[in-house]
Amino acid sequence: MAASSLFLVIWFSSIATAADVFAHFMVANTYNYTQTDWKTDFQAASDIGIDGFALNWGPPDCSLAPNDQQWYVARIADAYDVAATNGFKLIYSFDMSYTPGACAIGWNTTFMATMISKYVNSSAAYLWNGDVLVSSYGGEGYGNTFFADLKSILAGEGIGISISPALTTFSLAAQSADPNEVATKMLADYSAIDGYLNWQTWPADTYTNLTADVDVDFQAAFENTGRTGPYIMGISPWQFKDFNDGYYNSWVEYSDVLFPSRWQQAISIVQPDIVEIITWNDFEESHYIRDLPPVAGPTAVDFGVTGAYIYGQTHSAWRVMAQYYISWYKTGLAPKVTEDRVVFWYRIHPKEVPCSSGTNNIGVVRNSAYPADAVFAWALVSQNSTISMDVGSNQNWKFIATTCGPTLNMVPFPEDVDNAYPSVSIQRKEKTLAAATGHIAITEACAYENYNPVVGLTGPAFVASPKMGNGSGTGGKPRKPKYQKKAC
Ligand SMILES: *[C@@H]1O[C@H](CO)[C@@H](O)[C@H](O)[C@H]1NC(C)=O
Ligand SMILES: *[C@@H]1O[C@H](CO)[C@@H](O)[C@H](O)[C@H]1NC(C)=O
Ligand SMILES: *[C@@H]1O[C@H](CO)[C@@H](O)[C@H](O)[C@H]1NC(C)=O
Ligand SMILES: *[C@@H]1O[C@H](CO)[C@@H](O)[C@H](O)[C@H]1NC(C)=O
Ligand SMILES: *[C@@H]1O[C@H](CO)[C@@H](O)[C@H](O)[C@H]1NC(C)=O
Ligand SMILES: *[C@@H]1O[C@H](CO)[C@@H](O)[C@H](O)[C@H]1NC(C)=O
Repeated sequence: MAASSLFLVIWFSSIATAADVFAHFMVANTYNYTQTDWKTDFQAASDIGIDGFALNWGPPDCSLAPNDQQWYVARIADAYDVAATNGFKLIYSFDMSYTPGACAIGWNTTFMATMISKYVNSSAAYLWNGDVLVSSYGGEGYGNTFFADLKSILAGEGIGISISPALTTFSLAAQSADPNEVATKMLADYSAIDGYLNWQTWPADTYTNLTADVDVDFQAAFENTGRTGPYIMGISPWQFKDFNDGYYNSWVEYSDVLFPSRWQQAISIVQPDIVEIITWNDFEESHYIRDLPPVAGPTAVDFGVTGAYIYGQTHSAWRVMAQYYISWYKTGLAPKVTEDRVVFWYRIHPKEVPCSSGTNNIGVVRNSAYPADAVFAWALVSQNSTISMDVGSNQNWKFIATTCGPTLNMVPFPEDVDNAYPSVSIQRKEKTLAAATGHIAITEACAYENYNPVVGLTGPAFVASPKMGNGSGTGGKPRKPKYQKKAC
């Protein structure tokens, strides 16, 4: 007894180093934000253990009036003000997919350096080995010299930065090549980068489950070349986008069980320095976990044509899953489960039925054959339970959820599915302990071609994680924890 508790103490103390979680955040969706809105978002993220946001923003003068985006700078000022007084962390994720050629004025190092040094002393600034962590989406259109210049301008002001960009072409290429060779080439081409964000967190146009192979090889390549920046592993729950203008802007990636399986990879295989959830609020690509903004009123967001597949399609319950895995990732131990919950998700029409609007020619939404017509369930229970699922005429599909970590299962849509609200209940000893019904019906007479799922929850809403939401801001400590790789 004494020996084993001593062992536990040592085990706990050896893993109490930084393993931080960020969420990718679209500044473009904050046009109507006040400081109160920032605070609400920081609180909701902190509640599940997220330490900070990676602020994605494009060059503010990319498109000139009437669509200029100079307001980004003011929103970012609000974000830093509010984060600094709420124990929340921020990093920039410069959106460098806006290349100079595609913008009236693209990114320039003078402006970026000014924006970095502006908050260098803020307690909201996230430091890696004492340097300000800087990330990106893309950057190949600017090149290594650009990153080197940015570093050297700031070094001249006595400011160290650690650059961990998402050079997306490399992680994409690595999915269908030898990831080690791709990483080696990237490191040779980009001597100025310190770490990496793997953005490619969906299988790229293939009907396969994403593996962690790219992460493992890229992480090792950075370590082997002595780069000291963080390896940031992206984790995303879904991917569907449809600008209703043809094949090239309409796609879904195979994401049916992506979220839990990616988290499991982070915990049992990769153990990255930082996890970045992709995303907090990118509604247009259907990978948001934030609550939906209201349709009208002062905090409304103008989604344009994409609103057709966003409004009403809540994803909030995915935060219940995130909270569980974040805790495990940070502590190294599968959290003790004290309540019974099932998170479930489903699309609202069978794939490949003709819809009355949207990209409604069958086959135009790329990869639309991939997602399964099914209701998926992720159950986490405090005692062994029976989970019962209904969808249309497929009634009482049952599976056992044990106390041994989350159990994943599904029920397929029946042949004819018309106005069916799926429901999921938790049963034990012949009693129903909790039940919930999806709030949008599945129907073949779909109004808009829509591959964005609705996410529901059976059981109590989650409660804030204790002692979380105060990012250390001191990333970069060596961390070789002894991880519990399976729940039991
Ligand atoms: C650098 O970017 C800022 C922000 O968009 C812009 O105001 C400024 O004119 C740019 N400078 C140059 C030299 O392009
Ligand atoms: C966060 O942690 C710091 C350092 O431990 C502490 O000074 C600060 O009060 C904490 N902030 C919150 C909001 O808990
Ligand atoms: C940050 O703090 C350093 C050291 O006190 C100071 O030299 C520098 O001017 C400060 N920077 C800003 C932007 O406030
Ligand atoms: C992906 O993984 C899930 C869960 O293990 C499995 O049911 C499904 O068949 C897999 N999909 C493919 C395309 O292999
Ligand atoms: C800002 O809010 C108003 C409603 O008050 C809404 O009509 C508008 O579309 C919003 N703007 C953006 C850019 O989201
Ligand atoms: C729960 O289910 C697991 C797997 O079937 C079994 O090993 C375990 O004994 C069960 N626990 C109880 C308390 O019945």
